[in-house]
Amino acid sequence: MTVKVRKAIFPVGGLGTRFLPATKAMPKEMLPVVDKPLIEYAVEEARQAGIEQFIFVTGRGKVIIEDHFDHSFELIEALKGRDKKVQLDSLSSSKFEPGQISYVRQQQPLGLGHAVWCARHLIKDEPFAILLADDLILSKVPCLKQLVHAYDENGGNIIAAMNVPPDQTSRYGIIEASKSKGNLHYIKSLVEKPDPSHAPSNLAVVGRYILSSDIFSEINNVKPGMGGEIQLTDAISQLIGRQDIYGLTFEGKRFDCGDKLGFLEANIAFALERSDLGDFRTVLSKYGG
Ligand code: UTP
Repeated sequence: MTVKVRKAIFPVGGLGTRFLPATKAMPKEMLPVVDKPLIEYAVEEARQAGIEQFIFVTGRGKVIIEDHFDHSFELIEALKGRDKKVQLDSLSSSKFEPGQISYVRQQQPLGLGHAVWCARHLIKDEPFAILLADDLILSKVPCLKQLVHAYDENGGNIIAAMNVPPDQTSRYGIIEASKSKGNLHYIKSLVEKPDPSHAPSNLAVVGRYILSSDIFSEINNVKPGMGGEIQLTDAISQLIGRQDIYGLTFEGKRFDCGDKLGFLEANIAFALERSDLGDFRTVLSKYGG
């Protein structure tokens, strides 16, 4: 019997340098895909996976995220007064119960591992999820829900994984699996951004995780790695051999919205899914799409 995954961490403390100048004053996680900020997609996905406690690890210049998820009394009253029901409904997924959402400050962007570690006192000793909002996933079943399902069946630690073209391994954490059962791969080692000639596979880590709280003591022992940052991958690597760690090849398509091309592609894919934007196909066809 596994312990329910109730808490999720949303690390939003990064600098988003790949998206400058847009991210000079605005957090990358607030970039909209069609009409919704990336972070709101991640929050919706977490809710659909049964998450009850939402923990944001923020940094300088990220307060707009707190405002976005706050109750906006004046706006709501104005929309009600003007009978704008559709617009009012569009605000529902950014609504939280009092106490459901917490913010922790990462004073310096010292890496994803460090960002996760900043939330250790709020997670305490429960298993928890991590969602990276810039990894946007279009799927029939929300990606984190697929991970929770695999966790409920197998326990252990579960990381979302996908096959990438072999020449792109240097952009990802890459998994070496010792055995596979269906879409679950038992992880033997993890290599951060290997050159294609040294990559153990083309199975890459995607930004959705379910981890045990033992990861915090592992992060404590991680030395700064690539780019001087405390890498989450290094801490997970230290857990290998002591706990079961699986990669789950999920159903769905992932877009790297921290990258300009990935972000543009996500906008096209998500717009094409929207019934209220039926004319978008006509617009696209003007550009040869
Ligand atoms: P990225 O590797 O995309 O880094 O972080 P970044 O700084 O946001 O963006 P680039 O590479 O400079 O363009 C992956 C996730 O980890 C968070 C980011 O906010 C993003 O959600 N992160 C990263 C932190 O919260 N803190 C950090 O110190 C680093």
